Amino acid sequence: MSTKDAARLHTSFIGFDLKSPLIVASGTASHDVKQVQIAEEKGFGAVVLKTVCSEKYDHMRYWPRPRYKLLDWDKQIGGRSKQFTLYSYEQGYSGTLDDYWEFISVSKAKAKIPIVGSAFADVPEDWVDLARRIEQSGADAVELDISSPHRPGSLGFQETFVAAIKSVVEAVSIPVLVKLAPGSDVLGESIVAEQCGAAAVTLCNRLRGIDVDIESQRPILHGSYAGVGGPWTKYYNFRHVAEAAGSLKIPISASGGVMTAEDAIKYVLLGANTVQILSVIMVNGWDTAAQINSGILSYLERKGLNSLEDIRGKALRQLTPPDKIVRWSGEPKKGPRNDWD
Ligand SMILES: Cc1cc2nc3c(=O)[nH]c(=O)nc-3n(C[C@H](O)[C@H](O)[C@H](O)COP(=O)(O)O)c2cc1C
Repeated sequence: MSTKDAARLHTSFIGFDLKSPLIVASGTASHDVKQVQIAEEKGFGAVVLKTVCSEKYDHMRYWPRPRYKLLDWDKQIGGRSKQFTLYSYEQGYSGTLDDYWEFISVSKAKAKIPIVGSAFADVPEDWVDLARRIEQSGADAVELDISSPHRPGSLGFQETFVAAIKSVVEAVSIPVLVKLAPGSDVLGESIVAEQCGAAAVTLCNRLRGIDVDIESQRPILHGSYAGVGGPWTKYYNFRHVAEAAGSLKIPISASGGVMTAEDAIKYVLLGANTVQILSVIMVNGWDTAAQINSGILSYLERKGLNSLEDIRGKALRQLTPPDKIVRWSGEPKKGPRNDWD
């Protein structure tokens, strides 16, 4: 890659110099050392490892089989479709806690790109314990997965996670990322995460959903709720990133629905620093990174720009406030108005 192109993709993020804004999101593609090495070879800037759960949630490392289904893969609307839903039930890292510490240290020995450990627990002591062990094992940062679609419904943001974020930030010296769930208050939770000392927020995880087989009349696969995501999720995550980027000082790592370079560019235009991807790796393979990186480079070349900084937040700054939206302004009519009259 030319020096000019390397400079174009270069991204500063929570104190690290990433060679690309693309990060492997926590999950199936960041579950072993080989995958971390592939991620580095294929041009990712960093990897967030599969989430490890505290001992209390040990059952989460045993996965049902099969654990995924691609829904609507072959459905067509208007003759073609690029839509699908990845429906899955894969909870925590499948090894033991000791395996996870070794996974981090061997990954660090074999790859140069930053490695972010990822943790899930409930009480602050367990969060702190996991985060400290992640730091001691050599990870460059830790992401708190307070947003899994499989997390117990009894754990709320205010009641459980605020204390967890504060405790972990105090306990470790590596940067702490907070990964939030999509929903009605992503902006408010992002602001709280920033106030608690998070180095960045990851917006967002997937939603919890369910699908039913009408022949057997029971929920599909493992028979319960599942994580759902796909290309369609980007539109509400674009919104979450835009709203948070307008208020936060800390950087945002965007996540959700990226299939192409255009999707990644849109996240950056709305204010994201980095872009985490997973589903597209699972359906299209590791070469996705090269495709997205080269798509970003072609775009910057075409626009005559030398850096992602030149576009970061640009669409956000063009956002029209609701009271400034240009509306139909014809002659006032009596009675209810139909704009299609
Ligand atoms: C099969 C699967 C497993 C996942 N496991 C985790 C996980 O362990 N921890 C986590 O924080 N997010 C997990 N995620 C969420 C992803 O990291 C990512 O945020 C989400 O899938 C949205 O990005 P995408 O649309 O590019 O897949 C998982 C997603 C999938 C599809």
